[in-house]
Formats: sequence, structure tokens, C-alpha cells
Amino acid sequence: MQAVSQFMGLVDEAGAMPPAPTMSSATSDPVALIDGREVLVFCSSNYLGLATHPEVKRAVKDAVDVYGLGANGSRLISGTTDVHVALEESTARLKGSEAAISFPTGFMASTGAIGGLAYLPFFARMTGFALDERLPEMVVVSDALNHASIIEGREAARARHATYAHCDMRSLEEKLAAHSGRRLLIVTDAVFSMDGDIAPVPEIVALARAYGAQVLLDDAHGTGVLGRSGKGTLEHFGIEPADDILQMGTYSKAFGALGGFVAADAATTDYLRIAARSYMFSGAVPACVAAGALKAMEIAEREPQRRVRVLRHRDYLAHGLRELGFTVIGDGTPIIPILIGDDRAGMELSDELYARGLLAPCVRWPAVGRGETRIRLTLTADHEREHLDVLLDAFGTAGRRLGILPQ
Ligand SMILES: Cc1ncc(COP(=O)(O)O)c(C=O)c1O
Repeated sequence: MQAVSQFMGLVDEAGAMPPAPTMSSATSDPVALIDGREVLVFCSSNYLGLATHPEVKRAVKDAVDVYGLGANGSRLISGTTDVHVALEESTARLKGSEAAISFPTGFMASTGAIGGLAYLPFFARMTGFALDERLPEMVVVSDALNHASIIEGREAARARHATYAHCDMRSLEEKLAAHSGRRLLIVTDAVFSMDGDIAPVPEIVALARAYGAQVLLDDAHGTGVLGRSGKGTLEHFGIEPADDILQMGTYSKAFGALGGFVAADAATTDYLRIAARSYMFSGAVPACVAAGALKAMEIAEREPQRRVRVLRHRDYLAHGLRELGFTVIGDGTPIIPILIGDDRAGMELSDELYARGLLAPCVRWPAVGRGETRIRLTLTADHEREHLDVLLDAFGTAGRRLGILPQ
């Protein structure tokens, strides 16, 4: 206890505790209320602006009348309603897979899927359902910049793993070759959450097929946003869904709700219902939240202009920031990271933007590598062009004043 207090004293002294503003409004609206003040939000993952859509709110309210608040049990015990089943069916349709399984969060979908797949040989032995073949141990082959949920999944499963350099196909192939003969699971963010770039999925799938590996694609940020009809990163690349590609995703971003999913063949999703601990041993998402997510998916499909609008906003803002002299990374997604490098400069810039009524958080180590401090912006279809212009103006003025940009 004393060590924790001492550590936190040092964190406070260094001003290193991330500020977490308390909003008394929808967190996802472009304009939020913080301490009675209106602030323009540039850090919500509500990419399509569906979290506060009137039809979504109506669906949630109607479901509360029928199902009440909580699901009051895990999905296997008492937590499954017809809404959960409909949400999974709709997810499978969207992702072009035979079936889907939903989890309380996207984080838990990743940990559950990786853990469950790694667990198969032990599970088969334990349950006495002998498999025809003796399965080798699984090796999780993971991109160096994968999301924390993937790292957590492989750590919790105590799975053997290998890490390849970010989006580096030569490095991936080396790792696959080094572990050939084992059960291989390549895991990658489809859209990298802190860098906003898109994984080279066609090359990854080709290598997976050459080495007999399965792919688990974390499409948390691509689902609903990428591809001609919003199906996500596979559609973006024109890749047909297939049984050797498991698609993980979340309802907490483009669909404005909460919960995660894995879309795959029915044997895999059924298996995860009895092998994924984060599914079996945690309460289900409330039916009212599932009903909201279901409605949001329906609207996303019906209103493709939302996707077009958020990606147009992205291009406009990224172009404007580059014109000002900032280093913008990532491409083609509503995540816009602006590299600053130095922690203090990043925090000062974020503070100055906040003083001007703009919420644009600074992301530091350990969320990103040391020396890779950045302002990470995310956009929604509900932003207006004027919001982006206000932000660009503030970035220019603050950047020059703080010496990040030349005077
Ligand atoms: C790439 C990625 N995967 C998974 C998750 C977890 O999703 P959820 O918010 O539903 O737990 C996130 C969210 O931060 C993410 O960015």
C-alpha cells in the first residue's frame, strides 16, 4: 500500500496522471458539457454519430420497458435474450460469416478468442473428448503495435508467442517459418488504434495460407467505417470472408454502444461459447444496449453517407494539419495521430487546446512507444466543417506559440 501511495505521489508530482474530463452530456456529441462549459470533442470513437441517434435512443428505451436494466447473468446461464441472438445474426450478416458470438466488450472478445483457441488441446484432454489428431501447441504471431486486449489475451492464455515488426511482412514470414509445424494464429489490429494505419491484410492472409495459419483480425475501428458497405477491413481490400479468417470487432465504436464480437464459422463460435472464459464467466451486455447496437447497425447500413462524411472530414483535417507543418500519420481512417515526440510539448499543446474549448488528448507512453507522444484525434460524422476549422486555427496558433511549429 505504501509503495502504491509513494508511486502515485511521484506520478502527481510529474503531472503524469492522464486527465479524464467528467462530462455532464453525451460523451459522443461533438459539443459536450464539461464543468458547465461547452467543449468541442475530438476523441470519441462514435465515428458514425449513432450513439445519440433518435432511433437508437428509442430502441434502447423500448428495450428497457421489456427487459429492464441488466442481463443479470452470463450468456450461458440466464443472460441470453432474443435481442442478443438477433444482434449476433445481424453481426454475422454484416461480416459475411456463418455465425457470430457477442461478448460484454471488444477487449473481452479478443482475450476470449485467443484464450479459447490456445486452450483447445487442454480442453479436449480435460473433457475426455479425444481428438483424432494430436494438436501441437499454438503460437500467437502478433504485430508489435497490436492493441492491449491482444497482448492480454495471449498472456492470460500463457500462449507461446512471437512478435513481428509493425506491418513488416518479411518479419512476419520469418516468425511463421521459425514456428512452422505448430498451430499458428496470426493476430493483428486491422486498423491500428494509436497510429490510424491499416494492416496489409491481403499480404497477411497470403502468408497465413502459405504457412497453414489462421488469422484473427481485430477490426474494432474498421467495422462500420471501412469498405463500400461498411463491412470493415476485409471489404476495404476486397477479400472474401473465409473460415481461416476470424473477425473480431466491437459495438463500442462505429455503433456507439458497448460489447464485442467474433464473427467466424459456426463451429468456432459455438466452441468459444464453452471455451472463452470472458464469455462464460461474465455478465452479458444488457439487452437494452444490445437493442441499441442492433438499431445502430441497421442505420449504418441504411445511411452510407455517414461513412463518406467522416472519411471526408478526415482528409480535410489531415490535409490542413500537414499544411500547418504538423506530422500526421495514419491514412484513410477517422483516427488522426499528430506526432509531437516530447511529452511536455504534447501535454502543453493538449492543455492549450483545452483552454480554447477543444478536447484533443495527448497520448503518451505506455499507450505508445517512448518519444512517440502524440495528439490523437478521432472524428465523427456529426462534426461540422466549422468544427474542423476552429480546431485547425487553434492548432496553428498554439503550435506556433509553443514552438512546435516555426513562428
Ligand atoms: C484495436 C482495438 N481492439 C479492441 C478494443 C476494445 O474494444 P472495447 O472498447 O469494445 O472493449 C479497442 C478499444 O479501445 C481497440 O482500439
